[in-house]
This record gives sequence, C-alpha cells and structure tokens, in this order.
Amino acid sequence: MPTLIERGRAAGLPQHVALVMDGNGRWAAARGLPRTAGHQAGARAAERLIRFAGRRLGLPYLTLFAFSAENWKRPAAEVEFLMDLLDQFIEEKLAEFVREGVRLTVLGDPGGLPDRLRERVRRAVEATERNDRLHLAIALNYGARQEIVRACQRAASAASTGAIAVDDLDPAGFARFLDTNGMPDPDLMVRTSGEMRLSNFLLWQAAYAELYFTKTLWPDFTPAELLAAVSSYQNRERRFGGVGGSGA
Ligand code: IPE
Ligand code: IPE
Ligand code: MG
Repeated sequence: MPTLIERGRAAGLPQHVALVMDGNGRWAAARGLPRTAGHQAGARAAERLIRFAGRRLGLPYLTLFAFSAENWKRPAAEVEFLMDLLDQFIEEKLAEFVREGVRLTVLGDPGGLPDRLRERVRRAVEATERNDRLHLAIALNYGARQEIVRACQRAASAASTGAIAVDDLDPAGFARFLDTNGMPDPDLMVRTSGEMRLSNFLLWQAAYAELYFTKTLWPDFTPAELLAAVSSYQNRERRFGGVGGSGA
C-alpha cells in the first residue's frame, strides 16, 4: 500500500506548502477597522486553512509565517496584540491538533518571545510530538538570516567538539542545523496581498520552491484559493537545473 505521501507525490501534489500570511492590516483598513481586527480575521483564515490542508488535501507539511523577527518594529500595542492572539490561538487549537493528528513545531528564536507564549508553545510542541498526519510549522519570531546564522553557530560548535568534521559539511549536512531539520524543503511558497518579496522567509529552504503570488488579502484567503495555487504548481515543470521533459 502506498503511503499518503507517496500517493500525493504520484498525483503531483506538493509535500510542503509554505504560506506568507500577509495583508491583515490592509484588510482591516479597507473596512475602516483597526489593524487588530485584521489580525483576528487572519487567525480565522489560518484556522480554516490548517483544517483544509490536513483533512481534505492530505498535505503532509504546512508552514505558516505568523510573526517575523522584523515585526518587533511595529507599534508596541500591535505587537502585544499579536503575541496574545498567538497565545490564544495555540490554546484554543491544541485539543483539535491532538485529536486530528496535527504535529506542531515552531521555526524561529523562541528566546525572544514573551514567557507565557514561549511556555504555551513548548507545551503544545510536546503534546503533539508523536502526531504524524499533518506537520504544521509556525514561524514565530522567525527570520531566515537569523536562522542561518544560528545554524552556523551550531555547526561551528559541533565542529569544535569533534561531533562533525568541517570538511564533511555539505548542504544536506548543514540543513540539519536549521530550524527546519527533518522537514522537506517547501515545494510551493504562497504569499498573499500582492507583495512580491520573501521578507526574510525560508531563504535557504526556498532554493527550488515554486512561488505563487496572489492579490487576495490574507483574511480572504480560502481553501479554494489554496487549491488554485496547488493547481498552478501542478502545471509547472520543475527542472532543478536539468533540461526538463524527457531529457531530465
Ligand atoms: C500580516 O499582515 C500579519 C503579520 C505580519 C503579523 P500585515 O499586518 O503585514 O498586514 P499589512 O501588510 O499591513 O496589510
Ligand atoms: C511578512 O510580512 C511577515 C509575515 C507575514 C508574518 P510583513 O508584512 O512583515 O512584510 P513586509 O514588511 O511587507 O516585507
Ligand atoms: Mg504586511
């Protein structure tokens, strides 16, 4: 019997989709609402997407960019609201994650998070660590350059103790020191709200990801639109530097 992942691959489904959830503030402004209302609506959109990805799409890996290492530059009240919202989100969803086989992990530096949220995350990661239906990674206080530097520090310290030999370090060996250790690279990266940039998201892992940009603001992003992104992905030819087609 082929596994779910093998069946998905045969159907040309991506194994790992990474989403930059952008446009909450503009969604709220368009309605004359405060930015925080946009974040609240964005959390509901994330909830729908996670359910759809796990239950209907059978996607093995989903990564959501929730708060960047640069988002601390925002007004203190917005940052505080976002930290509380994330805390609440994980608290509310944990029972469902446990029941539905969702494994939660976090990318980014937990050291910079408020104590309460850091502890909430730690407990949720621990409570779901044996789940294997959908691996949900939330990027929280995440910046790709910071992640790569942390990985270099870990690699250097492993080399200094003799756990690895510097000459043996290759791309696959280095990737083991990244926060995404054990996850496949994203096949498809989606960014909402019309911005066409990566904003320091998964710079290493995105080397061969297919990119999909939509003008839809994150709170309006629906499962149907995720399917449209997947369908666009399925119609692309990934060459990985080869010549493609039968000559690949
Ligand atoms: C994405 O929406 C959420 C976070 C970055 C936390 P934004 O808050 O960036 O919304 P816009 O881009 O200002 O519309
Ligand atoms: C990227 O969005 C970060 C998240 C979606 C969490 P931003 O809104 O922070 O990105 P910039 O500032 O427009 O590049
Ligand atoms: Mg934004």
